[in-house]
Amino acid sequence: MEPITPTAYGNISKSNFRPVLFTAACVVFIGMFLYYFYSPAGFKIGPEQPIPFSHRLHAGVKEIQCQFCHPYVGYSNHPGIPPVEKCLYCHNYIIPKHPEILKEHEYFNANSPVPWVKVNYLAEHVVFNHQRHIRSEIECRECHGEVQKKDRLQGVEFKMGFCVECHRKKKANLDCWLACHN
Ligand code: HEC
Ligand code: HEC
Ligand code: HEC
Ligand code: HEC
Repeated sequence: MEPITPTAYGNISKSNFRPVLFTAACVVFIGMFLYYFYSPAGFKIGPEQPIPFSHRLHAGVKEIQCQFCHPYVGYSNHPGIPPVEKCLYCHNYIIPKHPEILKEHEYFNANSPVPWVKVNYLAEHVVFNHQRHIRSEIECRECHGEVQKKDRLQGVEFKMGFCVECHRKKKANLDCWLACHN
């Protein structure tokens, strides 16, 4: 029988070293997983989407206009995420047998929208709508960055400072914040 010698790790002996190491590794792994997905740093990667849709390919390489897929951005509070029909408008003809496109058909046939994960967040009490901004010809990239260069969109939590900074620069209304926040 092996003698159980106390080590620098307290009660960890040879016999239970492996399970302890394994547990520790799991804890570290889960911790890192949570960190990547829920911390601001994780936002850098962006959440995995149900279908690996790429803005780089569609808006960048194929130069499909933003408004083709987000048509309401100029005149509604909700820019709109394209419905499956819009994808199939092209993909009934383009790579129709691609496994990810077959997934699109499944959603279409089940009559259920693709559960895209929302990536942009704004504090609930903040009133934002695109119309005024689009109308004054601010480009998408000023707020959303180089979307057309990204495969997966990163999460952004818009902070008040971001709004105020530009409003100050462009001499847009600041009263709203003075009135709503102390
Ligand atoms: C205006 C046409 C058009 C629309 C609309 C469109 N796509 Fe595409 N898509 C393309 C083209 C072109 C390709 C490149 C095909 C190729 O590789 O030959 C492509 C490729 C893809 C691919 C394969 C990428 C890869 O890695 O091989 C996926 C997945 C995809 N699209 C998903 C979507 C989804 C989801 C939508 C709807 C939100 C959509 N597409 C809307 C034109 C379109
Ligand atoms: C072919 C269709 C298509 C085109 C073109 C397109 N988008 Fe998108 N967009 C989508 C889909 C699908 C999603 C949801 C999945 C995702 O987040 O990647 C999305 C999501 C987004 C989001 C994140 C929404 C959120 O909060 O979750 C932003 C911002 C966005 N698009 C901006 C743009 C801009 C800017 C352009 C032009 C440079 C553009 N899109 C072009 C289809 C498109
Ligand atoms: C002045 C800054 C600004 C500009 C310019 C801007 N956006 Fe946005 N966009 C935002 C903010 C802030 C949000 C988050 C709003 C929310 O969650 O209610 C957002 C959200 C979105 C969403 C997700 C909406 C949803 O319902 O989840 C899409 C898609 C989008 N923008 C597309 C675009 C496109 C396309 C353009 C250019 C035509 C554009 N945006 C220009 C600030 C901007
Ligand atoms: C890149 C510059 C820019 C950014 C970033 C920006 N705005 Fe604006 N915003 C403007 C400009 C310019 C106007 C004035 C448009 C006009 O005169 O119609 C405006 C107008 C507005 C208005 C209408 C104000 C009024 O006169 O009634 C609201 C509300 C607003 N923005 C909210 C926001 C919020 C909330 C954010 C942050 C999430 C934001 N904006 C980010 C440039 C910006």
